[in-house]
Amino acid sequence: MRKKLVAGNWKMHGSLAENKVLLEALVLELGQASTAGCIVCAPFPYLAQVQSVLSGSTLAWGAQNVSNHAKGAYTGEVSASMLLDFGCSYVIVGHSERRALYGEDDASVAAKFAAAQAAGLIPFLCVGETLEEREAGVTEAVIGRQLDAVLAVSGIEGIGRAVVAYEPVWAIGTGKTASPQQAQAVHAFIRAKLAVLDKNVAASLVIQYGGSVKAANAAELFAQPDIDGGLIGGASLVADEFIAICRAAQ
Ligand code: G3P
Repeated sequence: MRKKLVAGNWKMHGSLAENKVLLEALVLELGQASTAGCIVCAPFPYLAQVQSVLSGSTLAWGAQNVSNHAKGAYTGEVSASMLLDFGCSYVIVGHSERRALYGEDDASVAAKFAAAQAAGLIPFLCVGETLEEREAGVTEAVIGRQLDAVLAVSGIEGIGRAVVAYEPVWAIGTGKTASPQQAQAVHAFIRAKLAVLDKNVAASLVIQYGGSVKAANAAELFAQPDIDGGLIGGASLVADEFIAICRAAQ
């Protein structure tokens, strides 16, 4: 039985004051008895605050990006070992916004994935198609290509130590959520593709859905057989919304 995971991707939002209110609400409502994994992925500058507030609770935390290098002259970069210094367990890699806005290609995502795992972090590997790709009927080809790039470097064993997050680009931040049936179809494709390589890894792999998940639609999405929780953007910044989504995964 796969454990459902809900992770909040704060993106480039927050302040020390706002974070304090949000984090304390999450600890109060979810931090003791949550049976679903509840995770917060905050901007780098706030990781010390997140660690301070969430330590000792059942909530985990992570970052939204990581360098593919372990250390060195890479101005502005943040290494996986630095994230460990702040108690991170997870890191998002390959988010569509980084692929689209910062030129991260499949190879760089695969390198980040490997660097994260080499340090002991659990990557959230983001995959997903654009609206144009969906309308062109190449959704599975795109996602298969994104997965193959990571498989080529880290193998099915590496995927087995990660979380895959299916995030249709056309549903991110748009309010246009994929229907449960649309999302389930892609999740099933991902699991079937990986089962060819290792049935046990595929069966135990947590595959999250991301893209306009809200308290109102979370339960129906999470009820799908191959949807094992969510990667939440906007709704993760609103305590009541994120708490309700986490509870829908329990
Ligand atoms: O990483 C999760 C994010 O891309 C989804 O954003 O605002 O559509 O929930 P949102």
